[in-house]
Amino acid sequence: QDLTGLNTLGLVSHAAHYFRLDSERQLPAITQWQQRAGVPIYVLGGGSNLILREHLSRPVLHNVLKGIRLVEETSDAFIVEAAGGEVWHDFVGACIRHGWYGLENLALIPGTVGACPVQNIGAYGVEVMDRIESVQTWDLAQGQPRLFTAQECAFSYRDSIFKKPLGQGYLITAVRFRLPKQWVPVTSYPDLKNDPELAQGATPQKIFDAVCRIRQAKLPDPAKIGNAGSFFKNPIVSAAKLSQLKTDYPALVSYLQADGSYKLAAGWMIEQSGWKGRSLGPVGMHQRQALVLVNHGGATAADVLALADAVVASVRQKFDVTLEREPVLFD
Ligand code: EPU
Repeated sequence: QDLTGLNTLGLVSHAAHYFRLDSERQLPAITQWQQRAGVPIYVLGGGSNLILREHLSRPVLHNVLKGIRLVEETSDAFIVEAAGGEVWHDFVGACIRHGWYGLENLALIPGTVGACPVQNIGAYGVEVMDRIESVQTWDLAQGQPRLFTAQECAFSYRDSIFKKPLGQGYLITAVRFRLPKQWVPVTSYPDLKNDPELAQGATPQKIFDAVCRIRQAKLPDPAKIGNAGSFFKNPIVSAAKLSQLKTDYPALVSYLQADGSYKLAAGWMIEQSGWKGRSLGPVGMHQRQALVLVNHGGATAADVLALADAVVASVRQKFDVTLEREPVLFD
C-alpha cells in the first residue's frame, strides 16, 4: 500500500501490510492479525503528526471509524462522543452546528478525533485535555476494550500516556468530550485578542472563523505543501534559565506557565538561528512560520530527520536549549 498520500508531510512511504478499519466488528480480527504478524501494528489516522520511513515492515492499520453522537445531556454539559476516524475539523464544525460549544479554538487542526488525545492537541488558548471526558480504546494485544478516564490519560502539554511506553498498544476507537452549556469564550491568545472581528463580541462561530483565518494566513496548507504543523514543541525552561537567556536576548518570546516555569517560542528561536525560509535538500523551515517543517517535494524520512538535527544543533548552540520533535517516527 502506498502511504505517500496518507501522510500530510507527503513523505514517500510504502507499507507491506495495510488494513482499513471501518467497523468495530473487525477489532477481534485485528488482534489476530497482530498476533500472526508477531509485531505491534502501527495505527494511522490523518497522518498529520507522523514521519514515515520509506518501507514500513510492521502492519499499518488505518482508522476510519465514523460516528458522532450526543451520549448524555447533564444539567450543565453535553457529553458528545466521536469515533476515532472522524476528521477533527469536521467534528468541530458539526459540534458548532449542534450548539455544542467549546472546541472552536481548535478549528482547522489537521488529523482525526482518535489522534487528538495522543499529543493533546492545543491552539489559541485551549488544549483538548480541557474538554476530554474519556478515551475508549481497543487493547490490541489482549483483544478487549479499555476505557481511559481523562485522569488516566495523564495529559500535559503535547503529551499523554499514549506517547509513553505504558500507553502503547491501544487503538483509540472513540473519544468522549464534556462541553459545558455555560459557554465561556477563550480569546486571551494574542492573535485572537487583536482580531478586529472579535473585538465587537465573540460567538463560537466567530472564534471558529477567526481561528481558521489566522491559521490560513500563517500555516501552510498540507494539501498544497507537505507539512506536519509545528515540528518541535515549545520548550519549557525554569525562571532562572529564562532570566539568563533574557540578558542576551531581550526580545525572546516566553509565556509563564501555571507552575512558574516558562514556555519559549521555538519558532522565534529557529528564526533567530537563521533557519526561517531556509532549506536543506528537498525540505525546509517555512518562510512564514519557522516552526513548521515543509516538504518542497519528493522528500523521505531521512531528509526530514537531517534537517531536524541541523535545526536542533543550531538552536542548542545559540540558546543552550534542546528542541524536542513533535511528530512520531514510524520506521
Ligand atoms: N515566532 C517568530 N517567528 C516564527 C514563528 C513564530 O518570531 O517564525 C513568534 C511569533 O511572533 C509569536 C510566537 O513566536 O510571538 C508564537 O508564535 P505562534 O503564535 O505562531 O505560535 P507557536 O508557539 O509557534 C503554538 C502551537 C501551534 C498553535 C499555536 C497557536 C506548539 C508546538 N505549537 O505555535 O500548534 O497553533 O501555538 O496556539 O505548541 C501544532 O502543534 O502543530 C500547531 C500548529
